[in-house]
Amino acid sequence: MYRHYIKTLTLAGAVALAGTTAAQADCTDHLSAGADLWLEPNDSLATMLEPDCYAWQLFVALSWPGNVATQSADAGKALGDDGLTTWELWRNVRRGSQDAVFSDSGTDPGPWLTGATAVASRDASEFDALALQQLALLGGGAMPQIDDDSPFGNETRMNETTYAFVRDNTLYNTEGLQAAFDPASGVMNFPANAKEIKARWRIITEAEKPRYHWVDVVNSAGTTRPFGLTALHITTKDLPNWFWATFEHVDNKDSAVGGGVPGHEGWLAPSFDAYTCPNAPSGCDKAPAVVSGTKWENYVLRGTQIDFVDSRGRPTILANSVIERGFQDSSSCITCHARAAYDASGTFNGFFNPPPAKLGSVGAPDPKWFFSGQTVTTMQTDFIWSLMRACSSTTANSCR
Ligand code: HEC
Repeated sequence: MYRHYIKTLTLAGAVALAGTTAAQADCTDHLSAGADLWLEPNDSLATMLEPDCYAWQLFVALSWPGNVATQSADAGKALGDDGLTTWELWRNVRRGSQDAVFSDSGTDPGPWLTGATAVASRDASEFDALALQQLALLGGGAMPQIDDDSPFGNETRMNETTYAFVRDNTLYNTEGLQAAFDPASGVMNFPANAKEIKARWRIITEAEKPRYHWVDVVNSAGTTRPFGLTALHITTKDLPNWFWATFEHVDNKDSAVGGGVPGHEGWLAPSFDAYTCPNAPSGCDKAPAVVSGTKWENYVLRGTQIDFVDSRGRPTILANSVIERGFQDSSSCITCHARAAYDASGTFNGFFNPPPAKLGSVGAPDPKWFFSGQTVTTMQTDFIWSLMRACSSTTANSCR
C-alpha cells in the first residue's frame, strides 16, 4: 500500500478565513526536520500559495528511498540513503521495460505490483535514448533504446493513481483511446493524486558520484555504466491544469560542465525559487536546508508553473536546460502538455505531425488545436503525453 494524505480545500480555506496564516505555514512545516517527509503530498492550496515550497516537498517525498516490495516510499530510511528513489519504483511508460505500462501488443499491464521484482535494479530497457519531443524533432519513428554510444538516458513514470486511471479506462491501447474519444463527454480527467515524472540521466565519472543520485545501468551491449540524474520534471493533478515543476543538477548551469557532453547548453534563463531564495528569488541556485548534507543538495528548483499566462496575460515560460534543450526560450510545460491530444483513430498529432522547425507553444491553448467549428477533432488526454505510447491490441502498428 502506498500512503498519501489529502487535505481538502474546504478545511484549509476555513482556516484561512479564520484570519490565521496557517496556509502559509503549512508547506514549510511539512519541509521541516521531524515531519513525515516521505509522505507523497496532495495539497492543492500549497500549489497555489506556495508553489516553490510545494515543489520541494514533492521533490523530497519522491526522492525518498523506496521500498522495492511495495513500490512506494520506505519510511524507515533517510533521505539520501543508497537505493532507488520512490519514483524509480513507479511504472515505466517505456515499452519493453519489465514494469511497463504499455506493450507492443496493447495488453493489460496488470496490477500495480506486477513489476516489483523488475525494478530492484536498473537496466537499459528502462531508458529511452532521447526525450520523446526530441525524437519528434528528428522526424519521429521508433524510440531507440540506450546503447554503448548513448551518453544519456530518459524515462517517464506514473504513480499508482495515474497508473490505476490508465488501467481502469483501458488507456494503455489504441482501442481504449478510440473508445474514450467522446466529443460529448469532454476531456479526460485524472484523479487528484495523479502524478508523473520525467527524468534525465547522463553517464558520469567515478569522481562525480558523491554529488549525484546515480544508478549502475547495464546497456544493450552488456557494459555497465554509472548514470547520474541530471534533471527531474514533476507534474501533479493538484490543479485542474496540473502543477508543473522542474529540477536540475547544478552542474547543468554551465554548458562547459560535464566534460563537454553534447546536449549541455547551460541555463538560458535564471532559476526562480522563492522558497529557497526569498531575498533573491531569481538566481541563488541553492537547495533548501532540508536536503543539506545529502546528494540532493546539488539539485536546484528551476521553477514552477501553475497557469498558461500571468495575471497580465503574458505567457509563462519554464524550461529544463537538458530535457527542453534547443527550445528553452519557447518552452511552456503547461501549454505543450495541453496539446497532448489524439484524433478519432487514436493518433496523436500536436507538434508531432508534422514536427515544426522549433518546438514549443506558449500561452493559452488555441481552440483550433481541438475543434473545427463546433466539431471536436482531437481529444485532450488531460495533459498527459505518454499516452502516445499506446499501441493497438488488434493490428500491427507503428506506435512510439
Ligand atoms: C514541446 C513540448 C513539451 C514541453 C515544452 C514540455 N514537455 Fe513534458 N513532455 C512532452 C512529451 C512529448 C512527453 C512524453 C514523454 C514520454 O512519453 O516519455 C512529456 C512528458 C512529461 C512528463 C511525464 C508525463 C507525461 O505527460 O507523459 C512530465 C512530468 C513532464 N513532461 C513535465 C514537463 C515539465 C515540468 C515541463 C516544463 C519545464 C515540460 N514537461 C515541458 C512534451 C513537452
